[in-house]
Amino acid sequence: MAKFSNHSSRPSPFQPFIVILVVVFFLFHTITTSHSATLLNVLDFGAIRGGGRDSSPAFRRAWAKACTSSESTIVYVPKGRFLVRPIEFHGGCGNNDISFHIDGALVAPSDYRILGDVGSWLSFDGVDGVSLSGGVLDANGAALWNCKSSAAHCPVGAMTLNFRNSNNIRIRGMMSKNSQLFHILIDGCKNVLMEGVNIVAPSHSPNTDGIHIETSTHVTIVNSIIQTGDDCISIGPGSRNLWIQRIRCGPGHGISIGSLAHNKNEPGVRNVTVSNAIFSGTQNGLRIKSWARPSSGFVYGVQFLGATMHNVQNPILIDQHYCPHNLNCPGQESGIKISNIIYKDIVGTSATPIAIKFDCSSRNPCNGIRLEDVRLTYQNEVAKSSCEYANGKALGLVQPNGCFS
Ligand SMILES: *[C@@H]1O[C@H](CO)[C@@H](O)[C@H](O)[C@H]1NC(C)=O
Repeated sequence: MAKFSNHSSRPSPFQPFIVILVVVFFLFHTITTSHSATLLNVLDFGAIRGGGRDSSPAFRRAWAKACTSSESTIVYVPKGRFLVRPIEFHGGCGNNDISFHIDGALVAPSDYRILGDVGSWLSFDGVDGVSLSGGVLDANGAALWNCKSSAAHCPVGAMTLNFRNSNNIRIRGMMSKNSQLFHILIDGCKNVLMEGVNIVAPSHSPNTDGIHIETSTHVTIVNSIIQTGDDCISIGPGSRNLWIQRIRCGPGHGISIGSLAHNKNEPGVRNVTVSNAIFSGTQNGLRIKSWARPSSGFVYGVQFLGATMHNVQNPILIDQHYCPHNLNCPGQESGIKISNIIYKDIVGTSATPIAIKFDCSSRNPCNGIRLEDVRLTYQNEVAKSSCEYANGKALGLVQPNGCFS
């Protein structure tokens, strides 16, 4: 510091020149660095703005071109609405650094059968190092939901953004609207980061889960807002090492591990952290749910840390007796083993008298449940708790009390 001021106290005629040189060097450096990626504008591949003509061939051509390169490549989607039919982006393409920068909106065809018959809209299979940032994916799901509610014969529908068997995926600052089914599916993936994702669908829209994860490891979801008709985040069998932080959920059915035990042979769920989630007017807050069916599955090592509930019907829930219409649940008990589950710093309001419900399996009681600093009220009074076959302990101030056996 002293040396520097000594130096600057002696005016030099070269000093301004040196400063300019340094500035020019850094400007040049920044420009060349940001241009070191190849930029492919979908307009140059035949994409048409305005939503009238199908731009999916242009997206396919841009992807094929990106795949021929081994350099960092950006597929750029400028402002505007682009009509896009279902696309599958396949891996094994030699480029593990392809980013989609989206300023515009991808819009699904108005005829819901075009997506609904295919089952997925934008799917990536077997890719490595793909990132998506910005933009809107508008699946136009309302017509299919209406079809379903009129009990007519309707297609099952399509999930909007699907990643299967893929590694090193980033999704950042993107909005997904009105999906026919799940908005984002992560299945068979490793190392996925979702940040600043915004998911929007009406509370009455059926099966429009925000983000569904299964058979995947190291999945991180942070700073995201999810308003939808089903689970905000659902975590299926074979999910491990998940980190979910700063999520706003509602409307929706909350953050759910499950449904599990749908199949007899199922991989377990292990090491899941959900921290700083805010639930507003949701059906559930933090839920673990399994079918009342035999299964090899388990849930081990879950931390629910720092959640706020605003008028949530079931703020804390373990339900091991899921069996809609009492069909196909032989024995009516779940094979899923649930253990080492922590609930810490969970506060707020319940929309029903029972704010904590552990409804575990008589054959496989829940073990090692810990409640620490939990305060949940119902109509300005301490709410109630209910326990079946639940073993654990309560630490700090826990209201309603733990009710453990
Ligand atoms: C649990 O998951 C987190 C988040 O992915 C990870 O950082 C941590 O290493 C995992 N812990 C274990 C014991 O695997």
